[in-house]
Amino acid sequence: MHPNPILSSNFVSKNNNANDKRMIMAINKNEIVLKPLLEEDIALFSTWLNKEYIYKWFCPNGEEEREAWLNEINERNGKFHFLSHFIVYHNDKKIGYCLYADCFFLKDIQEENYNYDGADLYGDIPEKNHTYEIGFLIGEEEYLNKGIGKIVIQRLEEKIIEIGGKEIASDPSEKNIASVKTLLSNGFVQVREDDYRKKLY
Ligand SMILES: CC(C)(COP(=O)(O)OP(=O)(O)OC[C@H]1O[C@@H](n2cnc3c(N)ncnc32)[C@H](O)[C@@H]1OP(=O)(O)O)[C@@H](O)C(=O)NCCC(=O)NCCS
Repeated sequence: MHPNPILSSNFVSKNNNANDKRMIMAINKNEIVLKPLLEEDIALFSTWLNKEYIYKWFCPNGEEEREAWLNEINERNGKFHFLSHFIVYHNDKKIGYCLYADCFFLKDIQEENYNYDGADLYGDIPEKNHTYEIGFLIGEEEYLNKGIGKIVIQRLEEKIIEIGGKEIASDPSEKNIASVKTLLSNGFVQVREDDYRKKLY
C-alpha cells in the first residue's frame, strides 16, 4: 500500500466543506511522464512563467531574468545545448516543466543583470557529466500539492542516472519552502545556503 493516500489509484477525497463537492484528482506515479520540450510548448512555458507563484521564484530579478529563460530555451540546440528541457505530462495533459543542466558548463555563466554567478555555485565541479542542476515547476494550479513535484524530481533523477551523472544540485531560495521541502523529501541535503545536493553513488 502506498503511504500517501493521494497517490493511490482510486482515491477520492471527501471534502469537509459540504458545499464543495469537487473530487480531488487521484494521481498515479506512472501517469507522470517527462517528454522533451518542443517548439510548440514554448508559448505554454511562457504562460506558466508569468504566473505569480512561479515568476517570483524563477524570475526574482524581474523581466531580464524572464527573457533569459526564454532565450535559453530558444537557443537549446546552440549556445545552451547543455540544458535539457522537458514538459511534464499527466497522461496527455501538459502540467509542468523541468530541466537538467550540466553544471560544468553553468560555472562559466555570469549574469550581472540578474545576479547569477555560476563560478560561485559550481566552481567545485571537477568534470563534465558529473553534477547536474535541476529546476522544476507545476504550471497548472489544480496539480499543485499532490505529490507531483516529488515525482518530477524522481523522473529527473532517473534520467540523470541514465546518462551517467554522479550528483544532482538545486539552488532554490531558502524562502521557497515548497521547493526546499520537495528537495529534502527526495533525499537532497543542504550543503550551504541556496545549495542543495544529492549524490547518486
Ligand atoms: C515547488 C513545486 C514544484 C512543488 O510541487 P508540488 O507538486 O506542489 O509539491 P509536492 O506535492 O510534491 O510536495 C512536496 C513537499 O513540499 C511540501 N509543499 C508543497 N507545496 C507547499 C507549500 N505551498 N508550502 C509548504 N509546503 C509545501 C509538501 O507538503 C511536501 O512536503 P513533505 O514531503 O514534507 O510532505 C511547486 O510548488 C511549484 O511549481 N512552485 C513554483 C515553481 C518553483 O518554485 N519551482 C522550484 C524552483 S527551484
